[in-house]
Amino acid sequence: MASAIVTGATGILGREIVKELGRKPDQWKTVHALSRSKKDEYPSNVVHNHLDLTTSAEEIAKELQDVEGEYIFFAAYLQKDSEQGNWDVNGAMLENFLKALAITGAVKKIKRILLVTGAKQYGVHLGQVKNPMLESDPWLRDPYYPPNFYYRQQDILHKFCETHSHVSWVVTYPNDVIGFARGNFMNLAEGMGLYVAITKEMGQELVFPGSQTFYTKFDSFTCSKLHARFCEWAMLEPKAANQAFNVTNGDIQSWQDLFPRVARRFGTKVKPNQFAGNKPELAGETPLVDKPPISVLAEELGLKGDSKSVPPSKLEQTVNLVKWSQQDEVKKAWDRLVEREGLQRDAFEKATWGFLDFILGRNFDVVISMSKAREMGWTGYYDTWKALSDVFGELEAAKVLPKTH
Ligand SMILES: NC(=O)c1ccc[n+]([C@@H]2O[C@H](COP(=O)([O-])OP(=O)(O)OC[C@H]3O[C@@H](n4cnc5c(N)ncnc54)[C@H](OP(=O)(O)O)[C@@H]3O)[C@@H](O)[C@H]2O)c1
Repeated sequence: MASAIVTGATGILGREIVKELGRKPDQWKTVHALSRSKKDEYPSNVVHNHLDLTTSAEEIAKELQDVEGEYIFFAAYLQKDSEQGNWDVNGAMLENFLKALAITGAVKKIKRILLVTGAKQYGVHLGQVKNPMLESDPWLRDPYYPPNFYYRQQDILHKFCETHSHVSWVVTYPNDVIGFARGNFMNLAEGMGLYVAITKEMGQELVFPGSQTFYTKFDSFTCSKLHARFCEWAMLEPKAANQAFNVTNGDIQSWQDLFPRVARRFGTKVKPNQFAGNKPELAGETPLVDKPPISVLAEELGLKGDSKSVPPSKLEQTVNLVKWSQQDEVKKAWDRLVEREGLQRDAFEKATWGFLDFILGRNFDVVISMSKAREMGWTGYYDTWKALSDVFGELEAAKVLPKTH
């Protein structure tokens, strides 16, 4: 029987790791779920411990006095306003946590540490990437690019495992996570569900809020439940030691397929000419960096000097959701839904509109290969539409979205 520690236990990804291990008491004897808040009730093999990772290693060590585990899942995340801020805070949280495990002596028992990061590894926030993205693709270390806290975290983890050579590591790269969380930083399904429910309440046909170009391009999604199963597999699979892995659902998806299905689920429909005649004052356009990530590989790919294949990318919104969410008629429609359906009022202001503007607004394909894990024996798969529909159901049960079924 194994023991585990999960940081970020209330987050969209960490919460599912806790649930996955928690439902197998025969296999996972003790699971320490760590976060500042406690948002769920847990089965008997899960113990919630308070932890603030923004304090010093010594302070963290005091909070971890009775906390030990053979397998450590690090899924904590704190969002800052700048990439440098993310680098500073998220790097320090991991570094101090690992130092604390050395201070308490818990490190002696550790077998493997898994760090959850994401596809920003490849620069999907900076512009067009090489598709499909492979774990062996080069890191964007050039100072031309903004600091990437995933690189700092991975460097910290690698160094820790070199120092404590009995400990191996795993890193995951999920993308556009579909899952359930309360009050977190990046929540695709919640924002999408609220946008659709409120638009319907206003008596309007549905318009894809993101980029017209992206609507017919490909995206890769990660169901948080599948990610949790992947994390357990990678923790226990000997071949996965000291490896980083893409983690996506394994199907091929695009909003041209998903969005009409979302509309149908909420009992509404997509406007037949959805990209025509929209309010220009609600639209948005933001240029991304001049040298998109694919340009790092331009010479090798035979695309050097080809401004057609390597143009700067941009974020485009047919309806910028940050602007949309500030409109009086939208707020009034939400108020009506809250009153009539008994919904959680603060769900609207907690929705991550800026994040949705980003992930729906890109104007390039985001295709992530699962070949590496599959070659090692991973067979997991989750249909992306099912993942989205399942989470809408969870959000309905939690009174964040109105009941449609
Ligand atoms: N969400 C996505 O769509 C997505 C996509 C790709 C990659 N990722 C990556 O996945 C990783 C995890 O992100 P996530 O989206 O799962 O995060 P999340 O849902 O925002 O959850 C963050 C977790 O960290 C905990 N936390 C925050 N500050 C803390 C502190 N000071 N001390 C202790 N715990 C703290 C939070 O709990 P408390 O607030 O209760 O402390 C919460 O459990 C990040 O690297 C993120 O970039 C996310």
